[in-house]
Amino acid sequence: MNTFYLTTPIYYVNDKPHIGHAYTTILADVLTRFHRNAGEDTFFLTGLDEHGQKVQQAAEKRNVAPKDHCDEMAPRFLELWDKLHIQNDDFIRTTEPRHVKVVQDILQQVYDNGDIYEDEYEGLYSVSEERFITEKEAESGEFRDIKKLKEKNYFFKMSKYQQALIDHINDNPKFIQPDHRKNEVLGFLKQPLGDLCISRPKTRLNWGIELPFDSDYVTYVWFDALINYITAPGYNVEDANFNKYWPANYHLIGKDILTTHSVYWPTMLMSAKLPLPQGIFAHGWWLGGESKMSKSLGNVVDPLGLIEEYGVDPVRYYLMREMVLGQDASFTMESFIKRYNSDLANDFGNLLSRVSNLLQKFYDGKIPAIEDDSPEGISVKENGIQVIEDVWRQIESMRVNEAIETTLQFIRSVNKYMETMAPWKLAKTDSEAGGKVLFTAAEALRVSALLLAPVMPHRTQTVLETLGASDSSLEWGGLTAGAELKTHGALFPRIDVKKLEKESKADQQKEEPDNVITFDEFQSVELKTAKVLEVEKVDGADKLLKLQIEVGDEKRQIISGIAQHYSPEDLVDKMIVVVANLKPATIFGIESHGMLLAAKKGKDLTLITIDGDKVASGMRIY
Ligand code: ME8
Ligand code: MG
Repeated sequence: MNTFYLTTPIYYVNDKPHIGHAYTTILADVLTRFHRNAGEDTFFLTGLDEHGQKVQQAAEKRNVAPKDHCDEMAPRFLELWDKLHIQNDDFIRTTEPRHVKVVQDILQQVYDNGDIYEDEYEGLYSVSEERFITEKEAESGEFRDIKKLKEKNYFFKMSKYQQALIDHINDNPKFIQPDHRKNEVLGFLKQPLGDLCISRPKTRLNWGIELPFDSDYVTYVWFDALINYITAPGYNVEDANFNKYWPANYHLIGKDILTTHSVYWPTMLMSAKLPLPQGIFAHGWWLGGESKMSKSLGNVVDPLGLIEEYGVDPVRYYLMREMVLGQDASFTMESFIKRYNSDLANDFGNLLSRVSNLLQKFYDGKIPAIEDDSPEGISVKENGIQVIEDVWRQIESMRVNEAIETTLQFIRSVNKYMETMAPWKLAKTDSEAGGKVLFTAAEALRVSALLLAPVMPHRTQTVLETLGASDSSLEWGGLTAGAELKTHGALFPRIDVKKLEKESKADQQKEEPDNVITFDEFQSVELKTAKVLEVEKVDGADKLLKLQIEVGDEKRQIISGIAQHYSPEDLVDKMIVVVANLKPATIFGIESHGMLLAAKKGKDLTLITIDGDKVASGMRIY
């Protein structure tokens, strides 16, 4: 039996899982389900990268021990996988004893081969990146917390394998995919490859796996993490499945970790004398995921937030359909609604409800006796058989979005077939002919549901139930004549865009009451301290006082309606707060340049005054 071993990166537990993690894991789940449904013996691995500086720092920040931090984070990932209907076969955590042992075994083996040496190294070290950087990198300004460090460390002779790696990439065109990533790696390998520092002195970092040959050091987090891919299938464990599954068919990764996977990892494996993975596939980046979740249309959303409202399957569908594997994509509420309404509600959902309603209404809610042998019917059948083949070919070559589109095009063609044949008319004039058309359309739906099942495992199950289809083999002709249909609510209820727009407007109004100002607006008001020099009453206005004030170097006059609360002599020498950039005004025929601040409630009024040695007039208040 063919085996299919697929991995995701093991994610850092320095933060909670996010859409990027979810995407790679869903993609792996979809691919594995396709291969499993095709009868292959699949092994789908995901897990967590728990060692290293990032995790240690995250734990320190929260004031907990690193292991406790990891134990608290792990369930959050598992809960998300559960929610997303991920069916992984193993979940590895690098703090597990099974992994620690394998890392130490490999380290010892590579050391015994003479591929690890000790060296004193002095250079610029970036604390945030957790590695030594070159002068050039330091000058780029992209690195924070740089310091000069002199350290004895252990190095892996990566350079020794440079040519072997280049040859391997050239001899195995599918080793790094897509092609533009392969070229990126080959470009990188044109320069001489340095050796890899694989140790961290415990004085600097102790959250890691101890080197088996020097207990003063732990190993570099990447040397530790990559090895997870051989730990899980049982490297060096008797009776385990290691030889059955390794080498992996694919390491699925994001483009951010291409070098570690296609340079560090293969050379490590070469030194350990183990076969290299068959493929490394780097997908592109989801943009917009970090932005604040916003419900309003057209704005960027976090697709994970859409699950409560629209269900897991549509979100999985959207993520798989929208990203061209290998390229970047951005998610917006608009594109989600578009995909959902056109592909799922209109094309797929509509076909199902038409077919099942007609069968309920005219054919006792049962699958009719035979399929359509008219030219149109035969064409649907031939098309269906071809689509099953095409989809599999596309999945095998990692073109998931194309495979989905192939299926949707088939569904659209069946909707056209329905229009042409009009079984709702035939049902009344030629019941047998109408039954044949509905049989063929129902079989096309069954096949489509099975082709989409890896992407939407739950809703497609509902389609099969609706059609009374118990045969889940992906071959044309699995429907049983006479099978009883089940009734279900709408599979993909249309998203009402108008209603959503209204709600989102209402939401925005709720979120932003009229009296909210922006920071910039606030900044435009110049509040300053001012010292009161002289005060006198304004003749004929019993509420007003005329104040001479000093605002820094400047002298000004302001008129204020506080005469009933303060007498002139109360005010002299006080340090008050004024709005300094208020447009001058004429009050009671007298010029007023600025406005003083006071607190007021009912009849009570208190001037805002400032005490303190360091206060001078003319200071800006923020
Ligand atoms: O790098 N779009 O872990 P990590 C698409 N522990 N995918 C994204 C994404 C985005 N915006 N953001 C993250 C690590 N990803 C190491 C891996 S493996 C031996 C060690 C996905 O938590 C993508 O798969 O930073 C990326 O490679 C991975 O998350 C990085 O996860
Ligand atoms: Mg990262």
